[in-house]
Amino acid sequence: MMSEIKKRSLLRNPLGGIGAALFVAGLLLFFVLLLIDLTGGASENPYRSLVTFVIAPMFAVFGFGLFMVSVWLQVRKAKAKGEKFAFNLTFDTTDPHYIRNIGLFLSVLGVLIILVIYSGTKAYEATDSVNFCGETCHEVMSPQFITYQNSAHARVPCVECHIGPGASFYVKAKIDGMRQLYAMAANSFSRPIQTPVHNLRPAQETCEGCHWPQQFYGEKMVTNTYYKSDEDNTPWTIKLLMNIGGGNPRTGKLEGIHWHMLGSTVDYVANDYKREEINWVRIINKETGDTLIYTDPDEKQPDFDSPLTEVRRFDCMDCHNRPSHLFNPPAKLINLAISTRRISPELKSIREVGLELLNAEYETKQQAVDSIRSKLVAYYQENYPEIAEAKRPLVIQAIKELVQIYEQNFFPEMKTDYRDRQNNLSHFVNDGCFRCHDGVMKNQYGKVLSNECSTCHLIVAQGPSENVHELEHDLAGIQFTHPEDIDQAWMEMKCTECHTPESGY
Ligand code: HEC
Ligand code: HEC
Ligand code: HEC
Ligand code: HEC
Ligand code: HEC
Ligand code: HEC
Repeated sequence: MMSEIKKRSLLRNPLGGIGAALFVAGLLLFFVLLLIDLTGGASENPYRSLVTFVIAPMFAVFGFGLFMVSVWLQVRKAKAKGEKFAFNLTFDTTDPHYIRNIGLFLSVLGVLIILVIYSGTKAYEATDSVNFCGETCHEVMSPQFITYQNSAHARVPCVECHIGPGASFYVKAKIDGMRQLYAMAANSFSRPIQTPVHNLRPAQETCEGCHWPQQFYGEKMVTNTYYKSDEDNTPWTIKLLMNIGGGNPRTGKLEGIHWHMLGSTVDYVANDYKREEINWVRIINKETGDTLIYTDPDEKQPDFDSPLTEVRRFDCMDCHNRPSHLFNPPAKLINLAISTRRISPELKSIREVGLELLNAEYETKQQAVDSIRSKLVAYYQENYPEIAEAKRPLVIQAIKELVQIYEQNFFPEMKTDYRDRQNNLSHFVNDGCFRCHDGVMKNQYGKVLSNECSTCHLIVAQGPSENVHELEHDLAGIQFTHPEDIDQAWMEMKCTECHTPESGY
């Protein structure tokens, strides 16, 4: 016997109504966000893709799934009854179920559209913020986030330096963002995160959006006070006049340290991933096209036939490699804390002991904090009981300061601190400028790349005091006196042959 073919509406089941509503709302969200994305302009963010390309489609897929479940339920029911059936989308006003479900569909859809679009755009705004980059991936990014908050760029959004404007980086950032999300989910990211970042965008497209390279900075005074690792924490102060220079708009002259960025293009080849060993540098004069190549004849020369040899354009970040994530060495911060009296120099040997405590190996921040606390107290009880008793508040204050230095610069959970993120803006405890200006590199005419102390700065005051006004001053520059008698060794060797980042300053 032939049973009559029954026509059923796809929306006959309430689940179908809800599923369809979710599906439509998800798709709508996707297109709205895509539109914002494509017209968004400068501040692109890889994590935005989380909402646009993951959450919105998830709504749609889930809705579609529900819809298919409702179809399947109806098919099963009809089969159980032995009915033959076909689905349609016609407007079947005679069916009360249908009328009920179309009502359900429309009202759920209305509520969902408002809800999904509202929360979707909210989530979207959230992923664009600095907090999202820094905090959502809390463990991974916390070293970079904390150091960023302590930097001159604390108000510059991450994306300004890490992504920048334009369409090609938009796509690249999307792909990168998805890869990073995956690494987060799979817990497969490296600890520590590798540095330097080899695929960072060239400075011309990021830094120079805010900083005009021709800017003439002239000179800048830098005063540093150092304390020796002796019982009295003996001070020594050096005041430098940094010859930053630039393209002087009045005289049209290019001068000083920022010379590298103007007038000529500078390229170099590094032998290692960290870009610390440099034996080949080329400068091309932008006007005359004259080319000079500086090499270190005794060292390994780059193999230009190898596809792995990268000739890198020297830019802001080769010197300012830590504009935003400065992992300070503890020696430098203890000096600063003593000179500003957040740590008292009356505490005997505090520089030496504090440094030892900060440099020790710890598994977690908590362990470090506990250890610094108990060991500093124990140290004074054992060696200087009179200090431990009469100057207790100074000890407590020193502990507070050391703990703060630790928390803002050491990240044992991510296995990172100043030791593998050194600042290239000097030559004292890591080679920095002396990667090239080492007094050895020569050009094809035999001229040595200058490493005269006065090339980059003048020493205008120095001596064994914290009070710079007590020292002999001369703006024309004075001959460097090494604080410890080492004869002429500082002229013949690199500073880094004796000074290390651990105890350096
Ligand atoms: C002023 C520009 C600037 C800003 C703003 C900035 N960064 Fe960076 N960031 C850099 C530079 C330059 C490097 C590369 C350092 C290197 O390669 O030596 C870097 C490196 C990193 C690294 C790689 C690890 C490392 O220490 O080298 C991470 C992760 C990172 N940044 C995350 C962030 C996050 C998260 C924010 C926002 C909270 C942010 N950055 C803001 C310039 C910036
Ligand atoms: C969105 C704009 C912006 C971008 C992009 C930017 N900076 Fe800055 N930068 C600033 C501002 C604003 C200051 C001044 C901050 C202050 O003095 O409070 C500053 C300060 C500085 C300083 C002096 C402060 C210091 O660290 O002692 C240096 C050096 C510097 N920037 C380098 C860079 C480099 C290198 C890059 C690229 C990696 C960069 N900036 C990208 C806005 C920017
Ligand atoms: C050859 C290395 C080198 C390069 C390349 C370089 N700088 Fe500098 N820059 C320095 C040094 C050294 C100083 C002095 C900083 C100090 O002693 O505190 C300085 C100072 C500055 C300052 C002023 C800081 C202040 O505290 O007043 C800014 C801003 C700056 N640089 C931005 C840039 C930008 C942007 C670029 C790229 C266009 C760039 N620099 C390229 C080495 C360099
Ligand atoms: C990648 C190699 C390299 C690094 C790193 C480097 N420089 Fe240079 N620097 C050069 C070259 C090459 C010249 C040009 C020499 C010439 O004109 O023959 C130069 C020239 C200079 C000059 C101009 C010298 C003059 O005769 O007027 C100054 C000042 C200077 N550098 C300072 C610095 C400082 C400060 C740093 C570190 C923050 C630094 N350089 C890092 C390669 C480098
Ligand atoms: C190629 C450029 C260059 C040359 C050559 C150079 N310096 Fe420096 N020097 C720098 C820069 C850049 C800094 C970092 C300034 C700062 O802290 O802002 C620095 C810092 C210093 C400091 C302070 C160290 C610190 O970071 O606390 C001393 C001391 C010093 N130089 C001495 C010398 C002496 C002595 C010579 C000669 C043997 C010399 N410099 C040659 C660029 C140079
Ligand atoms: C032959 C090894 C040697 C060389 C090379 C050397 N130093 Fe030193 N330096 C020392 C010793 C040792 C001390 C004393 C350390 C102490 O008592 O804490 C010292 C102390 C200092 C101090 C006082 C701060 C402190 O930690 O005591 C400064 C600043 C300094 N040196 C700068 C330089 C500079 C800049 C150069 C390179 C131009 C340089 N030194 C090269 C061995 C050296």
